[in-house]
This record gives sequence, C-alpha cells and structure tokens, in this order.
Amino acid sequence: MKTVISTDRVAAVELLRKGDLVALPTETVYGLAANALNPIAVAKIFGAKERPRFDPLIVHLPNREWLGRIAELPAGDRQLILELADKFWPGPFTMVLPKYELVPDIVTAGLDTVAVRFSAHPVFAEIVGELNEPLAAPSANRFGRVSPTTAQHVLDELDGRISLIVDAGPTEHGIESTIVAIRDSKIAILRRGPITHEQLSEFADIVSVTLPQRISAPGQLPSHYMPKTPLRLIDSAEAFPPQKNRRVGLLAWGGAFRSPQAFATVRNLSDRGDSREAAANLFRYLRELDALGLDLIVAERIPSRELGAAIMDRLERASHR
Ligand code: TXA
Ligand code: MG
Repeated sequence: MKTVISTDRVAAVELLRKGDLVALPTETVYGLAANALNPIAVAKIFGAKERPRFDPLIVHLPNREWLGRIAELPAGDRQLILELADKFWPGPFTMVLPKYELVPDIVTAGLDTVAVRFSAHPVFAEIVGELNEPLAAPSANRFGRVSPTTAQHVLDELDGRISLIVDAGPTEHGIESTIVAIRDSKIAILRRGPITHEQLSEFADIVSVTLPQRISAPGQLPSHYMPKTPLRLIDSAEAFPPQKNRRVGLLAWGGAFRSPQAFATVRNLSDRGDSREAAANLFRYLRELDALGLDLIVAERIPSRELGAAIMDRLERASHR
C-alpha cells in the first residue's frame, strides 16, 4: 500500500466512511483513526500498529452531544464529569467512564469502561464532525514506540500500512492527553498529560492509582515509549563524566549548556526552562537522538511539577528496560 501525506480532508472522511484507517493530527500527538462504531475498521488499527488486542482505544467524539450515547454518567459523578467536560473539552483530556452497548468490545478490549476524548484540533474536529460518528484513535506509532508529533514521524512508523496521513504541521502539546477515571466523586489520574494534577485538584480530590489497575492498561506499563538506544536519567549534565569510546547524546533541560565536549550531540528541551516548550519538543528530540546510532542517551531530570510531571513520566518509562 502506498502511503500519502496530504492535507486532503475530504479524502480522509471518505476513507473513514468506508472503514479504512487515516492518520490525523490532534493537539497532543498524531492519531491513527478508524470509525469507532465499525469493529472491522477498528481491527485494522490493531493490525497496523501491531498493538495487542487487550489494549483499549480512546473514542473521540464529533461533539459534546455524543458523550451521552457512548458513556453512562453515573448519578453520583454526573455533575463532576460535566464540570470537567465544560472546563477541559475540547482539549487534551480523556475520561474513562462506564460504556454503553453501542461501543464495540474491540474498542474497549472487553472492558466495561470506555475512554472518551473530544479533540480541539481544527482539522481533526472538521473531519470527525463531517463523518458525524466517533473515531477510535490511538497514537499513530507502532506499539511500544514513541508517539508521533509530525506527519513525517507517522510515515516513519506506518509507511506502507495506511493510505493517508493528514498533515497539519507539528502538534501543539507534543505529549498525549491526560487520562482520568472518575470514581465516587474522586479523580484518579491514569496517565499524566497536558491537563495537570494541579488543575484537576480544583475540581475534586485526586486519588492515586494502585498498581494492578495501572498494569491493566499497557500504555501504563513502565517500558512504554521506548527508544532503541538505551536512555538513562541524570540529575545534571555537568556531573556526567566523559565516556571513553562511547558516543553519548544529551537531552538537556534549561540554561546555557556547559560541557558539550562530553557529548557527541546535544538537544535542549527548552533553554529557557519552559515546560510547555519542553513537552512539545520531547518526542521529536527522542526520535532524532535515537536515529543517530548513539551508545547511550542521557536525559536531565526536570522539576516534577505541573507539566514537568508528565514529561518526567515519559522519560522514566523511556529509561526503563
Ligand atoms: O492524546 C491522546 O490521547 C492520543 C490522541 C491520538 O488522541 N491518543 C492516545 O491513545 O494516546 P493511545 O491508545 O496511544 O493511549 C490510550 C491509553 C492506552 O494506554 C490505553 O491502555 C488507555 O488509554 N485506555 C483506553 N481505554 C481505557 C479504559 N477503558 N480504561 C483504562 N485505560 C484505557
Ligand atoms: Mg500510544
């Protein structure tokens, strides 16, 4: 199959309507979309990504009205769910809610809950709105690899496996949506992302998620987001000794860099220490460093608050092997 990168939204809607896959931009990362109500189309996502069938997908709504058709809003949590939707939708925010029958089991991997999101990206919104059916869309990378933030990244991952990648330039946030579950009027953060713990804590108590629940979703497994090159976290590049006969790449954070001779190459996530800029650069720099055939990537830890917590979460997983 020939894979084309284009801006043709009409072709995207046509492909989705006949049950094919299309890679689409969102405000977080590029997604690999199929009509969520067509189980055969959704099965193609698992094939193209080599994703295990037990890993459930996020359902992206054409509009707010679709929420009540896809998911149940339990009486006790209804008000909180609607408040969060009002505040963070459309946007980089996903809620796991009890699912309705309409959602095929292949989408939720047999779970009785469904992850729901409503993207703010104008191109995504136009396409899903025109289709007027929800879209199942995981990140458009092969399973276990770094999420794509440009159309070219998607091509690098899925060339020959899909026919169309809709290009809208680099994505805004650069990391995947925040995923929460709502239980007993509390918010459980299942995946950190652009909507932070600090923002969510204004709405309800935040509960920590216990390990068995985390493992039940492979996106939460420690080794997700793995570059091919070994990656190690360090506190500061200055304290990292030069390595004999080893080519080391540095993923730096903040400030002017001090000892470049210790490293074969350096990428700075944000030299002004801006975590939004760092998140937007993270996956691109990981891909670039990974393509250089280095012996090791070292990444400086960044302060683990607000968006920094979501970035550290990805780096910790990338360093796990
Ligand atoms: O920003 C994003 O969320 C992107 C864009 C394309 O929307 N999508 C994305 O999808 O990151 P994916 O499939 O790469 O990650 C979704 C995560 C997976 O770790 C999956 O296990 C988890 O959501 N998930 C999906 N449904 C779930 C459910 N019912 N309960 C718990 N976790 C769920
Ligand atoms: Mg993913």
